[in-house]
Amino acid sequence: MSEAHAGADYVRALERHEADRRAREAFQSLALAHAPPGGTIFDFGAGAGIDAVFFAARGYCVRVYDNDPRMRRYLAATCADSIDAGRIIPETGEYADFLARPRDSGAPRAHLVIANFAPLNLIDDLPVLFAKLHVLTVRGGALLASVLSPYFLGDLRFRWRWRGMLGQRRAGELRVPGARGDVIRRRLPVFAADCAPWFKLERVFRGVPPRNAAEAAGIDFALSPRTAWLRLAGCRYMFLVFRRVGS
Ligand SMILES: C[S@@+](CC[C@H](N)C(=O)[O-])C[C@H]1O[C@@H](n2cnc3c(N)ncnc32)[C@H](O)[C@@H]1O
Repeated sequence: MSEAHAGADYVRALERHEADRRAREAFQSLALAHAPPGGTIFDFGAGAGIDAVFFAARGYCVRVYDNDPRMRRYLAATCADSIDAGRIIPETGEYADFLARPRDSGAPRAHLVIANFAPLNLIDDLPVLFAKLHVLTVRGGALLASVLSPYFLGDLRFRWRWRGMLGQRRAGELRVPGARGDVIRRRLPVFAADCAPWFKLERVFRGVPPRNAAEAAGIDFALSPRTAWLRLAGCRYMFLVFRRVGS
């Protein structure tokens, strides 16, 4: 498959289903509520750049990183004008290089890090990534992640979901082998533990457009760490807002 095809097929697949389009809309609205106008957004696992284009068109400076070279090349080709204008700033290299890079090469720190459509589910060692994202973020900044939920009742029709049940009880995460490594669905307390001491899990949202003001406000995780998941069982994705901690 050609590179242009890989990227274009990917965009088509992600935009084919109404539910995915609505999830993206909800995610983008939430991101706009957490990023100051004209600020900097770091898009981790940016893929073909659908969100990067959206935010760059709204006046944000968008730094992007994806560990798949085909995605990086597709984004570089389709966003060439924004890259030339400095509205989109691509990061390159293997994931290990991305983690090891000591500091930013003069690029602005992010007011908001986003990771849409489940990049965090593909990361084995989350604490290491949180430490890296802490360095890339301004003081008081936030991280908004859309992650596949282990609480989604709709997955119970799949055999892999039942097979993973035991592991989920033990470790708080559901691992399913995928084409590029395990897809890891983590429970909320696992995220809360893994993000410390760099971030704090602040609010949790259903990964769909909110139906009322209460859903739009989300769930304060500190107030209901044991019961928050009960309100998430109807959604494939959950949106997590982490607040950066410290200086
Ligand atoms: C389902 S896609 C979502 C892409 C994009 N965020 C979007 O909303 O369309 C997940 C992306 O995460 C990327 N990814 C997976 N592991 C990664 C890693 N270790 N570092 C950076 N990106 C990664 C994949 O290459 C893929 O492009």
